Parts: sequence; C-alpha cells; structure tokens
Amino acid sequence: MTTIADRPSRHDLKHPMVSSADEHAYDTTARALHWLVFGLLAAQVAIGWTMPHIRPGVAQEGLVDWHLSVGAASMLVVLVRLAWRIARPTPLAPMVRWERVLATLTHLLLYLLLIVIPVLGWAAAGFFGYTVRLFGFITLPALADHTMRWAHEAGDIHDLLTNVLLGVVGLHVLAALWHYFIRGDRVLQRMLPGVR
Ligand code: HEM
Ligand code: HEM
Repeated sequence: MTTIADRPSRHDLKHPMVSSADEHAYDTTARALHWLVFGLLAAQVAIGWTMPHIRPGVAQEGLVDWHLSVGAASMLVVLVRLAWRIARPTPLAPMVRWERVLATLTHLLLYLLLIVIPVLGWAAAGFFGYTVRLFGFITLPALADHTMRWAHEAGDIHDLLTNVLLGVVGLHVLAALWHYFIRGDRVLQRMLPGVR
C-alpha cells in the first residue's frame, strides 16, 4: 500500500536523479519546533476563548493563570524556533514563482504575529496587575502598569490580532493541502514528523 511517506512527487518523476525530499526537508528539530508551536498556540487560543473575559479585578487564577504560563512558554519556544531557522536555514521546496512569493510572505507574517501577539498580551498582563512567570518560577519583568492606558489598548489589539493569526494559519493549511492534493509535490511531507 502506498503511504504518505513513499508517495512520489511529480518533481521527482520529472527529475528522477534529484531527490527533492532529501535535499530540502526540514530537520527533526525544525519539525518538532513547528508542531510544538502549533500545539501551544492551539492551547492558547482555546484557553483565551474559554477563560473569563479579562477586565480590572479578574484574579490571576485558573485558566487566566494558565493563559499567562502557556503564553510565556510559547514566547520562548518561538524564539528558539527563530534562532534555529537562522542557524540552519531550509530553502523553500521547488515551486512556481507566485507560490514562492506567497509562501515567503505567509511565513514572514506568521513569525511577525507570533512575536507581536504575545508581547501585546504581556503588556496587557502588566496593565491588569498580573505576574508573568516562565515555567512557574522565572518572573518576567512587567512591561506596563495599571496607569498606562496604551497597555489596555494593547490587550484589545492582542485579541484582534489573534483572529488575524487564525486567518493566516487557515491560508497556510490551505496551501499545504493545495501542495498535497493539487500539485502532488512533497511540500507537506517536508514538515510531517517521521516522513523523509
Ligand atoms: C500567541 C500566543 C497567544 C494567543 C494566541 C493568545 C490568545 C488570546 C485570546 C484568544 C484571548 C481572549 C480574547 C477575548 O477576550 O476574546 C487573549 C486574551 C489575553 N491574553 Fe493572550 N494569547 C497569547 C499569548 C499571550 C501572552 C504571552 C500573554 C501574557 C504574557 C497573554 C495575555 C493575555 C491577556 C492579559 C489577555 C486579556 C486581554 C484583554 O482582553 O484585554 N496572552 N489571548
Ligand atoms: C499555529 C499554526 C501554525 C503556524 C504558526 C505555522 C507556522 C509555520 C512557519 C512559520 C513555517 C515556515 C517554516 C520555516 O522556515 O521556519 C511553516 C512551514 C510549514 N508548515 Fe506550518 N504552521 C502552523 C500550522 C501548520 C499546519 C496545521 C500544517 C499542515 C496542515 C502546516 C504545514 C506546514 C508545512 C508543510 C510547512 C513547510 C512549508 C515549506 O516547506 O515551504 N503548518 N509553518
């Protein structure tokens, strides 16, 4: 039975001497970090949507506390991921020009949102008087306090940009499906765990 792992790409068929999968695949660390960020973000969105609506006086307990802890951890993982990407860059898979441009822009926008959203949330946490801890014991400095109105606005923008992120991730997932089902190349397999 042909599995997702050994399905040939049209690129391979056209150029049987070149293994696009081997030369351009993301390494194990990059893939692990990609799916770890995915898991942490899915948790953050789920917690953000179910926790009590945050306004002055809402205590830092339960889901609110979880949102701050998982958020702090996700900031660190995104930084590690960016450092790994800079240290070990992976070229894009062979694709036509408009796909390359769109992929580059989407990845750039994703990284931008992955930095800006948490920093805005961190500032808002300061406004509401919360303490942000990494792994429960390393206290991060507050970026703002309750007198700083801009930090309250930062919380609103944090909420808004989360919806933008979901839209961009939707586009990103559609692109992965486009490559797998329409193009028939190996772009999706490059990021799947355990697939060469
Ligand atoms: C990329 C990671 C994150 C995502 C996807 C995310 C998502 C969300 C969502 C969905 C909400 C609820 C919005 C609503 O009320 O409808 C929220 C609120 C909030 N988040 Fe995050 N969050 C992230 C990271 C963080 C971090 C790192 C912190 C702080 C260290 C944080 C602090 C807050 C605060 C204080 C609020 C309340 C803001 C307000 O409504 O004024 N978040 N977040
Ligand atoms: C929170 C959700 C996600 C985020 C933030 C995200 C972010 C990213 C980023 C920034 C890259 C660029 C890789 C790099 O060079 O560092 C990437 C690549 C990739 N992602 Fe995601 N991703 C998410 C979810 C998904 C999902 C659900 C899928 C599969 C359906 C997926 C499939 C891929 C694939 C196949 C690549 C490689 C693209 C290529 O080689 O050009 N991603 N992702």
